[in-house]
Amino acid sequence: MVFKKSGRYSVPSDEDYEPGSNDEVLKNFLNIHSKEIMSEIEQRELGRTELELFQIYDADHQFTVEDICNIHELWLGDIYPMAGKYRTVNMDKDGFPFAASAQIEKLMIQFERNYLQQYTPCHFNDLDQLANALGTVHVELIIIHPFREGNGRTARLLADLMAVQANKPPLNYALIDQVENKQGFAEYIMAIHAGVRRDYSLIRNIFVTLLQQSV
Ligand SMILES: Nc1ncnc2c1ncn2[C@@H]1O[C@H](COP(=O)(O)OP(=O)(O)O)[C@@H](O)[C@H]1O
Ligand SMILES: [Mg+2]
Repeated sequence: MVFKKSGRYSVPSDEDYEPGSNDEVLKNFLNIHSKEIMSEIEQRELGRTELELFQIYDADHQFTVEDICNIHELWLGDIYPMAGKYRTVNMDKDGFPFAASAQIEKLMIQFERNYLQQYTPCHFNDLDQLANALGTVHVELIIIHPFREGNGRTARLLADLMAVQANKPPLNYALIDQVENKQGFAEYIMAIHAGVRRDYSLIRNIFVTLLQQSV
């Protein structure tokens, strides 16, 4: 597998909306304007990417921020110019601010040193320890939110790769799905907010359940 060697720096226009999309779809190589069609394409590519990733990263791989960018690019590189690149715009969701864009590069280096190097390769046998590893890495990546779009699913791909390193199946995320399970999603968002205070107990508990429910 050879990754594209595109520059890692986004230009702001890469992160604009596709003209004519009513600010619903990001600028893309396919000139797609429909949110629904784009969601389907993203979902299809996500499935393809997950299968490819299990061939790329073995059980002893220690993940790096370069891998995180490559995973995002492998998923979305044929669709969006922003794929694999750090965002240059500040963003929040429902008033919760993610890291300032100017800090992302520095924060990702710290993320690699403090979390990826500590928790990968992910060889925990104990369920609580494994859930703690998956949950901590997940929350820390979500809080940085390095990409313009697709951070949640990229973080889930990484959690799946880590689970497989620990001889577990990829996770079933229905429990925290924003559409299928509003209560579960709300608790998941609260767990992310607790992670800002380095309180990982809530996200660990959620990953315990996700691991138990994934077969
Ligand atoms: N209110 C919120 N506060 C903190 N994090 C949130 C909030 N809403 C969503 N998130 C996080 O952001 C992710 C969505 O980010 P996004 O870049 O759109 O990724 P994706 O497109 O893959 O869902 C969610 O999966 C969740 O982890
Ligand atoms: Mg999104």
